[in-house]
Amino acid sequence: MIYAQILAGGKGTRMGNVPMPKQFLLLADKPILIHTIEKFTLESRFDAILVVCPVDWISHTEDLIKKYITDDRVRIVTGGSDRNETLMSGIAYIQKQYGIHDDDVVVTHDAVRPFITQRIINDNIEAVLTHKAVDTVVPAIDTIVRGTDKQVIDIPVRSEMYQGQTPQSFHIQTLIDSYQALSTTQKETLSDSCKICSLAGQSISLVLGENYNFKITTPFDLRVASALVEERS
Ligand code: CTP
Repeated sequence: MIYAQILAGGKGTRMGNVPMPKQFLLLADKPILIHTIEKFTLESRFDAILVVCPVDWISHTEDLIKKYITDDRVRIVTGGSDRNETLMSGIAYIQKQYGIHDDDVVVTHDAVRPFITQRIINDNIEAVLTHKAVDTVVPAIDTIVRGTDKQVIDIPVRSEMYQGQTPQSFHIQTLIDSYQALSTTQKETLSDSCKICSLAGQSISLVLGENYNFKITTPFDLRVASALVEERS
């Protein structure tokens, strides 16, 4: 089976003083989350599309899905307290509802990257059918400087630097095994899902993303996203 999992369990604190988690904010005529789900419903190879959201927003999400989405592959699942917990909560749902089979894969995507393209989704599916873990990246535009608040530690060669986007796609059993191999501290501190697999020694295959596939994090990003939607319509 090929699953899509849309990670919508965050709070969006960097968006500032807004009345709801940012994935539910309007982008033109509909919530950001709905723009993202629509992109995934266009891909017929998904057997199920999981939308994993905060427990307090389940009924709101149900209402939105009823209003905007007619695709019966969409399932709503309760998320966790950090992003990887949300990811694993979706995996637990798959395990419970469908069982895990050896060829099962999942394409996971941030709910707040509504400009994902069909090409990126397709490349992730193709890549994860032959590799155990896949990351979507764009070449770094700015020089990346590694350091503390006060001091530079390193300035890596820019041509070897990428910025991580999503989707991140996984052979599901490999993801489960890799997550179980982590220590509690690693589970608490990991901010990136592909790192779960790389710490377990898995190689990660790369798919090229697009600058348009940016994550809406701050009020500035929301303004840029609104301008893009307006320009396209
Ligand atoms: N996410 C999630 N579950 C969490 C935390 C984050 O599913 N417990 C999701 C978010 O909903 C978002 C994506 O992961 O679609 C990227 O999250 P990010 O923007 O980095 O974090 P947020 O918690 O949403 O925002 P902030 O860090 O500003 O609070």
